[in-house]
Amino acid sequence: MSDVKLLVCGAFNEEERARFDANYPNTYAATPADIAALDAAVRDGITAVVFKGHAPFGGAAMDPLSNLGLIANFGVGYDAIDVDAASERGVKVTNTPDVLNDDVADLAVALVLTQTRNMIEGDNLTRSGRWAGGGSLPLNRKMTGGTVGICGLGRIGREIADRLAAFKMDIHYHSRSEKETPGWTYHADAKSLAEAVDWFVVALVGGKETEGYVSRDVINALGPNGVIINISRGTTIDEEAMLDALESGAIAGAGLDVFINEPHINERFYELTNVVLQPHQGSGTHETRRAMAEVQLSNVTAFFNGDALVTPVN
Ligand code: 8YV
Repeated sequence: MSDVKLLVCGAFNEEERARFDANYPNTYAATPADIAALDAAVRDGITAVVFKGHAPFGGAAMDPLSNLGLIANFGVGYDAIDVDAASERGVKVTNTPDVLNDDVADLAVALVLTQTRNMIEGDNLTRSGRWAGGGSLPLNRKMTGGTVGICGLGRIGREIADRLAAFKMDIHYHSRSEKETPGWTYHADAKSLAEAVDWFVVALVGGKETEGYVSRDVINALGPNGVIINISRGTTIDEEAMLDALESGAIAGAGLDVFINEPHINERFYELTNVVLQPHQGSGTHETRRAMAEVQLSNVTAFFNGDALVTPVN
């Protein structure tokens, strides 16, 4: 058996790989599906995996690692990892909560602003010379004083709501339970939230339980002035229904950082001029990615030292 205990799995960048190298001897697999192909002596030595990405990490990827005890995820969302399969095998899972709340919330606000002021078209008009040639940008919608609904008032949803409250928006929200948020309006279901607002920001946790939670019914309830912002997971919205609504004008637009099957997103998005599309960059700043890497590594260190895990999931 090899004495390498750590397997690095996923699309870590150079800095992130170097951090692991400086701390623990390790071996590498590009995706969970590649783990089984590693040498058996190497696999048997592995007790911890650090994982980054959204490729499914299920029981079939865990089974070739006979001594696995930890999967430390790089990200707050761990929907790619089959946590039930991990628990059944006595494998602990950790994530990186909190350190990315601000960045993801900032991006949600940026998407609202980009949509409301049509900034993509404004940029195109300016750089193409069409403005100089006499063109102008049609008037836009006012954001201040608008009505926004946050679907999922968890840690990230709360940061988004606080920011949008600073824009003097009227805050509505839907979550499992009502929170202590004087002045904000609680809705017991997503459809009632959609009926009440123009801006609909999705900040749900990903995974099976929330698949298609923002359903065709909810999307249509938003109406022709409605704009959907999604910084959670592509799976939380019925994407086909959203595309239908965007194409027909049943809703006004969308600002999206996440998609089903990303990065190979539905090509219908490419034809739409009423959407702002981002490449899942919610947590993508130097500072936050470093903070996430540190939380991930602290879980690995705790595991190797036999200490309590810092941010356990199961
Ligand atoms: C990803 C994210 O982890 O934290 C999450 O849930 O979606 C992101 O921060 C990051 O894109 C690396 O895959």
